[in-house]
Amino acid sequence: MHTFEELRDRIEQKIAEQPYALRRPDGLFHPISYILSLGGKRIRPTLTCIACEMYCDDYLPAMEVALALETYHNFTLLHDDLMDRSSMRRGKETVHHRWGDNTAILSGDAMTIAAYEHLAKVDKDLLPVLLPLFNQMAMEICQGQQYDMDFEGREEVTEEEYLEMIRLKTAVLLATALKMGAIVGGAAIGEAEILYRYGIHVGLAFQLEDDLLDVYGDPIILGKRIGDDIACNKKTMLLIKALNMAEGEEQAILHEALSMPESQREEKIRVVTGVYNRLGVRALVEDLMDQHNTLAEEALSELSLDQGRANVLRGLVNTLRNRKS
Ligand code: IPE
Ligand code: IPE
Ligand code: MG
Ligand code: MG
Ligand code: MG
Repeated sequence: MHTFEELRDRIEQKIAEQPYALRRPDGLFHPISYILSLGGKRIRPTLTCIACEMYCDDYLPAMEVALALETYHNFTLLHDDLMDRSSMRRGKETVHHRWGDNTAILSGDAMTIAAYEHLAKVDKDLLPVLLPLFNQMAMEICQGQQYDMDFEGREEVTEEEYLEMIRLKTAVLLATALKMGAIVGGAAIGEAEILYRYGIHVGLAFQLEDDLLDVYGDPIILGKRIGDDIACNKKTMLLIKALNMAEGEEQAILHEALSMPESQREEKIRVVTGVYNRLGVRALVEDLMDQHNTLAEEALSELSLDQGRANVLRGLVNTLRNRKS
């Protein structure tokens, strides 16, 4: 079996071979080759290839599914950066910042179609199984993204509501990547569903970490601007916990900061981060991440294949837990 890095490099090469640069008009396709060439961790397509290889000793049958998922993921980033007013992604200017909002919308739309072009290349016997899984995942991401936006304007969001929102916007994509890969590899449906559950827990921990990195990350390594979530009043787990815990003067400081306009961005980020630090919410979020990582590892132990074949996935939990980007 291949390592995570080996599979990621093969996927990277496949992405580089996609002929977007030759397609016209350039205004539609250049932003697509731009975002796809900026790298990223390629976690989702690599998960697909790993899951496939676990069951059939080969990752190649899953390559088009992997490309479909990574293309769809990159589409969500184009629209997400527009919605979140983010100016940096993967260390470079976001598409809407560089080419304008309309380009981010239309090139994003074209990427969803490109994702389905990849999916349409799978074995014709598998398509009736894979297509509904892909569609459900794609719709759930939209649902999650809508909750994410709705919550910006709401004063109170519960931890349960937040977890459901990130399950939809982030976790289902990682989970579906694993499930589809396993199915292509010939896994029984029960096995694919255990991997889906593993992916949900990994995905929840992944988004919790993403929220932490938005506050505590190094922008150079992360490739994104720090504080975009605070600037938008995103109801991250950090903010939800802080809103629940803050009392008296601390509560007043937090509420005043949340009403600061974009022109006071830096001050707002400084004040809200100060509240987080004094209340110790970071450690609470890290505890929650660890709980989901443990649940992920427990799910793996339910798989009926030779447990050694799940080692790549076992190691991934720690790699993601310690990631800086
Ligand atoms: C960013 O995903 C969007 C989230 C779900 C947090 P990644 O952190 O996987 O982004 P890339 O693809 O590696 O750039
Ligand atoms: C990303 O959530 C979820 C999707 C793109 C669907 P974020 O908005 O937190 O992702 P980043 O931080 O911009 O990468
Ligand atoms: Mg965002
Ligand atoms: Mg977002
Ligand atoms: Mg984020």
